[in-house]
Amino acid sequence: MNERRVVVVAGAVFDRGRLLAARRSAPEDLAGRWELPGGKLEPGESPEQALVRELREELGVETEPLARIPGEWVLKPGYVLQVWTARLLSGEPQPLEDHDALRWLAPHETDAVDWLDQDRPAVAEAARLLRES
Ligand code: CDP
Repeated sequence: MNERRVVVVAGAVFDRGRLLAARRSAPEDLAGRWELPGGKLEPGESPEQALVRELREELGVETEPLARIPGEWVLKPGYVLQVWTARLLSGEPQPLEDHDALRWLAPHETDAVDWLDQDRPAVAEAARLLRES
């Protein structure tokens, strides 16, 4: 069971004291909700490698994973979400794939968007880290 589960990695991307939020454009039941961008691990990838690849594909940016946000959240049976903080190295994020809007949130704005329920605990921790930094 355990070895069959799919890991989805997402990034709490920080830049200049702000957190990046991405609005999903699909599937229909998630469209319009905001998430920490990311995607599924591919065979042979480490979570950090998958995160860097997903953020490059979806947003066109280079990032450096920093630390895992403790915890793991079930998305649906067999799917778990893990979240890393990450630093923007280069590029300006663009909604290239899966998203139709992006927002940089200042520490006092991290509740301003309608986050996916499953992302909320990690967003709360990312917001706390942002306020402390
Ligand atoms: O890009 P890829 O197809 O690998 O993955 P995705 O479709 O972006 O995400 C896989 C699943 O994880 C979807 O069901 C997303 O809704 C979910 N997800 C999530 O709940 N929270 C995130 N921050 C990222 C993905």
